Amino acid sequence: MPKLTIDGREIEVPDGINLIQAAERAGIEIPHYCYHPGLSIPGNCRMCLVEVEKAPKLQVGCSTRVAEGMVIHTNSPRTKTAQKAVLEFLLINHPIDCPVCDQAGECKLQDYYMDYDAQPSRFPLGRKVRKGKAIDAGSGVMLDQERCVLCARCTRFFDEVTHTSELAIFERGDHCKIDTWPGRPINNKYAGNVIDICPVGALTEKEFRFRMRVWYLHRTASVCAGCERGCSIDIHHQRGRIYRYKPRENPAVNSYWMCDEGRHSFAGLQNETRLVTALYQDGDRLVAESWPEALRRASTKIMALGQQHGANAIGAVIGAQSTNEEAFALKCLIKDTIGSDQIATLSWSSPGASPDDNLLIRANKNPNSRGLAALGLPADGLDGLASGVAAGTLKMLIALRSDLVRALGEKTFVERFGALDYLLVVDTDANQTCQMANQVLPIGAYPEIDGSFTNFKGRVQRIRAAFAPPGEALPAIEAIARLGHALDGVQRSVMAEQIFGELAAAEPAFQGLSLSGLGPHGADLR
Ligand code: SF4
Ligand code: SF4
Ligand code: FES
Repeated sequence: MPKLTIDGREIEVPDGINLIQAAERAGIEIPHYCYHPGLSIPGNCRMCLVEVEKAPKLQVGCSTRVAEGMVIHTNSPRTKTAQKAVLEFLLINHPIDCPVCDQAGECKLQDYYMDYDAQPSRFPLGRKVRKGKAIDAGSGVMLDQERCVLCARCTRFFDEVTHTSELAIFERGDHCKIDTWPGRPINNKYAGNVIDICPVGALTEKEFRFRMRVWYLHRTASVCAGCERGCSIDIHHQRGRIYRYKPRENPAVNSYWMCDEGRHSFAGLQNETRLVTALYQDGDRLVAESWPEALRRASTKIMALGQQHGANAIGAVIGAQSTNEEAFALKCLIKDTIGSDQIATLSWSSPGASPDDNLLIRANKNPNSRGLAALGLPADGLDGLASGVAAGTLKMLIALRSDLVRALGEKTFVERFGALDYLLVVDTDANQTCQMANQVLPIGAYPEIDGSFTNFKGRVQRIRAAFAPPGEALPAIEAIARLGHALDGVQRSVMAEQIFGELAAAEPAFQGLSLSGLGPHGADLR
């Protein structure tokens, strides 16, 4: 652990880190463009120059490793002169685009200009070198060559992470520009990451451009539910609408990246199919009703069937889109409150879904298959339930986040479950299974609820509600607690934190964990 002094502050840092990382630990910013902790270090932008005592010249903070006794000055006159010079150089040919640039508010040229430069341009406007603007580079990436600072983060991402090399720097001198190869647009499943790492407005997202100024967006730390990897993300939202997902650094799960499928998956969570009220079947229609009416209807049915045919007449299917807390709450309701052992899980992925790759994407498109297994729930088990229906012993099914009709196909669903007396669907959307249901309870999608998912490697990560579910939809743990109360009059917790505590006490795999103790990177199952 070398000791060094940065701007008069003495700190001890781990061996092998660079000066940018060391300064960060001391709460000091060394401005930088080309350095990114997930990529190689080319040292090409020179924005990170700092003064290191005893070194004859200024040193680049990104490629200089810490050493015992180093004395570094990040705001000395020599450092400041270098920072101003680099910024003036970078801005010589930069267009006057800030008012119309989507990067405004999160642009490192704007920010560093204000913090480290703040001098008028000495370069005549008319002599700026013109380059390509608003070029559709492929895979939803818009390229504005004039705004680029040639840091080569994007080219390194495609060279080193996806190994597809779709972008390169062409030409020489002040005619240098980022571009695709002729006839070879960007075409890979991780392209959105170059938009995230571009420090300026040269690469922007086609879908997001001009939809929302970034300073209006709120951020909520969560997890992508697009597959069993469970990449850490930030949800960027405003007034109950999601505008974009951004990957959140997590060395145990996704490093700094996420896939484009996951990045754009929020669109499916905020469309017109969302359920906003409880429904019941009236003839051949589904009709809206209030929560008290819905709970009375569902609990009366459960009690009547239980009395008539025994507790095992009631079963549940828990979809692997459910959180650990939801699955645990429904498992307790079925086993302890109702007294049935008829539980199955559904971990279904569409046949056309992208297969496993060697970066992040997983073929299993459910975020919590491993969590359900860790809760001791059977993998699948639908055959057992179907036999119960065929034998006339299983009369009622509660389907939580389980679109059985889509998973099995309508014909098979009707063959296997068509003879049920009662189908109660607890879900977010008016899917095909809802159309077959006797009753539907509306619940929140994962950006609207608190809880946790366990990824395929056993990493338990926290998800947080960015905003409330739409209409009268409730978090599923609250819907289950209300149904339990209607059955036995016992108040149950509707707080994910508390349910996780009960779960950790009851389930050996979760022993010792707590929701708040998961931290930003999650924790491993036992
Ligand atoms: S497009 Fe962005 S990431 Fe790529 S070199 Fe230019 S500034 Fe850097
Ligand atoms: S790899 Fe899976 S979890 Fe990660 S962003 Fe893609 S879909 Fe989401
Ligand atoms: S960040 Fe050090 S040279 Fe670019």
